[in-house]
Amino acid sequence: MEKIIRAGKKWNREIPIPADKSISHRALLLTSMAEGESLIENFLLSEDCLATEKCLGKLGIRIERTSGTSLKVSGGGLHGFKEPREVLDAGNSGTTMRLLSGILSGQDFFTVITGDASLSRRPMGRVIEPLRRMGARLDGRDGGRFSPLSIRGGGLRGIEYSMDIPSAQVKSAILLAALMAEGETILLEKQASRDHTERMLAAMGGAISCEADLSVSGRRILIKKGGPLNPAHFLIPGDFSSASFFLAAGAILPEARLSMPGVGLNPTRTGFLSILREMGGKILVSNMREAEWEPSGDLLIESSSLHGIDVPSEIVPLLIDEIPILAVAATQARGLTRIRGARELRLKECDRLTAIAGQLQKMGARIEEFPDGLTVEGPVRLKGTRLNSFNDHRIAMALAIAALVAEGDSLIEDAECTAVSFPGFWEIIGESHG
Ligand code: S3P
Repeated sequence: MEKIIRAGKKWNREIPIPADKSISHRALLLTSMAEGESLIENFLLSEDCLATEKCLGKLGIRIERTSGTSLKVSGGGLHGFKEPREVLDAGNSGTTMRLLSGILSGQDFFTVITGDASLSRRPMGRVIEPLRRMGARLDGRDGGRFSPLSIRGGGLRGIEYSMDIPSAQVKSAILLAALMAEGETILLEKQASRDHTERMLAAMGGAISCEADLSVSGRRILIKKGGPLNPAHFLIPGDFSSASFFLAAGAILPEARLSMPGVGLNPTRTGFLSILREMGGKILVSNMREAEWEPSGDLLIESSSLHGIDVPSEIVPLLIDEIPILAVAATQARGLTRIRGARELRLKECDRLTAIAGQLQKMGARIEEFPDGLTVEGPVRLKGTRLNSFNDHRIAMALAIAALVAEGDSLIEDAECTAVSFPGFWEIIGESHG
């Protein structure tokens, strides 16, 4: 599917932000390990989260759609999974493959997980290695570096593990395996990454504690093999990463005013909010709700006069998925925006540094690619053209916002990939045209 984007309409409206993808995955995975029935409301019905639902179904977990986006999950405890007869398919979803690897490492049976072409190019050694150290027998293609993965679990023991790369998926895989491992597991994070798993495990009665570790300027997380997880009632907030496309749009479109109610505002996710504010973004946060397990609030953004900044590399893990849209905003900001320490971006659904730099250059942006980042010089009047999404949802959406401020029409190839995280994205973009 290709999408034509026309610039020019005034934007003054409310944008419905779909549920958080990271939290939706975790809500399903964690409640499937609980003992009893859990309720998940406002679950994200996107391709990635549906891949997790399907895999759990093949592992014998009963998941019922009670109405619209509400699900009832009948968890059978930490070991309530059945050996699947078929290969599990994680599709495009790294979160599904990596977090499931943690759960399956604790199950005394054999599983194979595969994924699509993009997922089969993403590094899996980073989960295989610690899970092997915990005692699981895992392997993968090319000497255990890539999927498909084979897992024969059971007999786990706790480990102490220092995370060199800030990755919430790797951390979560280890934490989920640790629930079933003898003794305790200690994780040292040099740079904090999103902490949804920790918060949700704590809310379900998991024996987990987190403390800031000043010696490594990150966190020390301790988790013990404990009793069963309690069933939960999770109401999922809107996805800050999805909202970020419209935060950028509101800031760079002329005479815009966009409101987004009920967006997740976990501080390990909102690095882009701080950076956009520092760039001059007029953002109002109201109605903060400090729920027991995840904070959320309402966002309002108005057209802003942005200026470039140096993005401190310590904040990069807190805005890792927002770098493509930050680059788009930077093309409209006065002066230089420098992003470094973002090498991980090359290992996402596509090489996002090359993808966004190349496509924005085609639109006339002054953007330079570095091994671990980008430098963008603005402001530049972008020109509409034919754009390649690389089949990556976040690249497609970032380019759509760039196209809205460009002169002339743009055409985005393989636009259907937005269904991975933001069903309804094109309807919002389309509805807003005159
Ligand atoms: C995610 C963690 C991040 C992020 C991804 C979702 C998660 O990946 O980029 O979109 O749900 O844990 P890494 O753990 O590879 O950094």
